[in-house]
Amino acid sequence: MAQRQGIDTKCGVFRNDGAIIWAAMPALGAYVPDSAFLAGAASTACGGIRGKRVLDVGCGIGVTTLAISKTCPREIIAVDNSPEITELMRTVMLDNESIDEYLKQRNGLEILGSGASGLFQTTASYLEFQRDDFQNGIFRACGGGLHILTKSAVEITESDCGVVDVVVGSHYLHWPVRQFLTEFSKDVTSGAVAMKLACERTLAPLAAILKPGGVMALLTTDDFVMFDDDLDFDSTLGMLSWTKHPMALKAHSAIAEILEEYGIEHLSPSKINIFKHSNVFGLLEVSGLKLESVLFTSTAVRCDPRWFVAAYPMRLGGYNLSPNQRTSAIMRARQKYFTSLQAADYSRIRTSLITFILRKL
Ligand SMILES: C[S@@+](CC[C@H](N)C(=O)[O-])C[C@H]1O[C@@H](n2cnc3c(N)ncnc32)[C@H](O)[C@@H]1O
Repeated sequence: MAQRQGIDTKCGVFRNDGAIIWAAMPALGAYVPDSAFLAGAASTACGGIRGKRVLDVGCGIGVTTLAISKTCPREIIAVDNSPEITELMRTVMLDNESIDEYLKQRNGLEILGSGASGLFQTTASYLEFQRDDFQNGIFRACGGGLHILTKSAVEITESDCGVVDVVVGSHYLHWPVRQFLTEFSKDVTSGAVAMKLACERTLAPLAAILKPGGVMALLTTDDFVMFDDDLDFDSTLGMLSWTKHPMALKAHSAIAEILEEYGIEHLSPSKINIFKHSNVFGLLEVSGLKLESVLFTSTAVRCDPRWFVAAYPMRLGGYNLSPNQRTSAIMRARQKYFTSLQAADYSRIRTSLITFILRKL
């Protein structure tokens, strides 16, 4: 088989149609509790966010920005390197044009699917809720300002956003770290050295715009963190992982069978473990940042079978398939998956979250 497990190191999944597809995830309940937890953790770590300036890195469509806005900062700067995703966020948070029309003009009905098993209606109504919650919430009522930038956060400088009191990033950290890791692994023989460099390149620009005493709160999942210093805990996390959910296994078999026709061996989703809990201090303490705490929490969302098909485009991100081949593979797999489901497959979907709280000295 020619291709194995697509690793989308270039973040292609958030480009083009990916912006709209991504919006289906919070619409199904994913990422929303994570951002609420992160906003609470960041707020506690810095003694309250009210009146402060916050940078939201890898903001996506604004789920974390919305959660942070409820802590009433003076200003939020949201940055993402996908122009399609920042355009969608601007439309939702700062405009008033019809969200239904916006999505339809970008083939939203076809991409998300209509009807009961489709995601169009759910996504459009979630985005309406996000708009209303933001535009009519405490942040705007207090005159808070939101600036949305399209830029890579690893290239951000003070001239883009000034100095900030707080940096938050939800499900962002592993993207640049994995990209740099792929790049540096070509030149550096030691994996540990490549990882150290990758973390430095990711965090240094953010540390440079953070005020002394300021807080950086970065949330990721146990998909990327191994508790190598507590293996019993690590294996319990492994058992509860979404990768073992009966629907995840069925969704995987459905797409894997179809991808075989294209000469692709699609490996089962598994934990990637780029961070080892025992040495995160050594990795993240760069450019005057001190790692103050590593927080753990777990969330559960209602089981919706559409969750796993919404994630198909992300799983296929790294494969060399034409857009038509990708769409046709996804459509066929969706059908196969839905017909394979049984009542016993319905159980809550859990995620374990790890949040790094860093302080600029
Ligand atoms: C998994 S999404 C999380 C979005 C949002 N924080 C949330 O929790 O809903 C990751 C986001 O990080 C963005 N991203 C990845 N690498 C980036 C980089 N170097 N600079 C800015 N954004 C980046 C992607 O475009 C994507 O929107």
